[in-house]
Amino acid sequence: MTAPHFAPRVFSGIQPSGGLTLGNYLGAMKRFVTMQDAGTHQTIYCMVDLHAITATLHDPETLRRNTRELCAGFIAVGIDPEKSILFNQSQVPEHAQLAWIFNCVARMGWMGRMTQWKDKAGKNAEAASLGLFAYPALMAADILIYHATHVPVGEDQKQHLELTRDIAAKFNHDYGQEFFPITEPVIEGAATRVMNLQDGTKKMSKSDPSDKTRINLTDRADDIAKKIRKAKTDPDPLPEALAGLDARPEARNLVNIYAALADISPQAVLDQHQGALFGHFKMALADLAVDKLSPITTEMSRLMADPAEIDRILGRGAQRAREIAAPILAQTYDIVGMLRS
Ligand code: TYM
Repeated sequence: MTAPHFAPRVFSGIQPSGGLTLGNYLGAMKRFVTMQDAGTHQTIYCMVDLHAITATLHDPETLRRNTRELCAGFIAVGIDPEKSILFNQSQVPEHAQLAWIFNCVARMGWMGRMTQWKDKAGKNAEAASLGLFAYPALMAADILIYHATHVPVGEDQKQHLELTRDIAAKFNHDYGQEFFPITEPVIEGAATRVMNLQDGTKKMSKSDPSDKTRINLTDRADDIAKKIRKAKTDPDPLPEALAGLDARPEARNLVNIYAALADISPQAVLDQHQGALFGHFKMALADLAVDKLSPITTEMSRLMADPAEIDRILGRGAQRAREIAAPILAQTYDIVGMLRS
């Protein structure tokens, strides 16, 4: 078996499940832009609408709106639909087609061990959709239908990416060919896990019932500042060294957010602010956050005013995506033994 050379290619996806948070931005989207602009990899970014229908009953019109809003978000943060391929998953049927093959590669035991499945299905797994259980196999297909080599994501997706590697390795082994790359997760930087503003032990999430726990990319400047001012902290000043943030999850979170927004290391944040009390540091953080996020919010609403243009961008992105995906699916079918005439 000789290992084919895989061109450097980045793929990542976000669910259009309504509302983008600072976690999505710092943990994923901001890094998508860096990888796009580095020019070292072809970059492919996807609104995973097929994934967005796995969890709860959804309203079709809301899903369409969320998909357009997510596309506007991608562009507003700096994804250029000419430089990157930007599209929604359901317009490229090869994702679902490869996912079926992977449903037959992945084992029930592997899927059952996924912590997100356990969290989302909760105690009532009998009532969860089959799609929710199979979700990570579709995610593997999203990545491998492009032979993507690198996948930038936040920390919470790590286990799914390990499963993607397992699926690729088992497929390659079962069919005796190094056909799919063993993808590298890219989980880097200060903000791979942005935490809840009211509880530093929980992840910042768009599904938390309280809006005070997160910053949304659609928040107005005064709301951003208010949420940061009201974020939970402790009475101690900022330490000199990172070790001084151990056992201070809320303090650590705000330092990490500052670092990621300012493109500096958490230690550099402490160098600038050591000895400061949180009242003061939060003001500096609120100014920084408003400065970085307000232009994104404004650009998103400008783009949302022209949904036809968004649809055109997504259609064109899907066409470009299919040019890569279709031959890889055809080769997969050949390897598996599907007859084509
Ligand atoms: P999703 O839609 O939940 O989140 C999109 C991206 O945002 C990151 N993220 C965070 N990062 C840091 N801190 C947080 N609090 C935070 N919240 C969210 C996520 O890690 C993710 O990178 N299953 C994926 C979507 C997906 C996908 C893929 C990703 C489907 N197919 C293929 C990569 C490759 C998901 O639900 O992400």
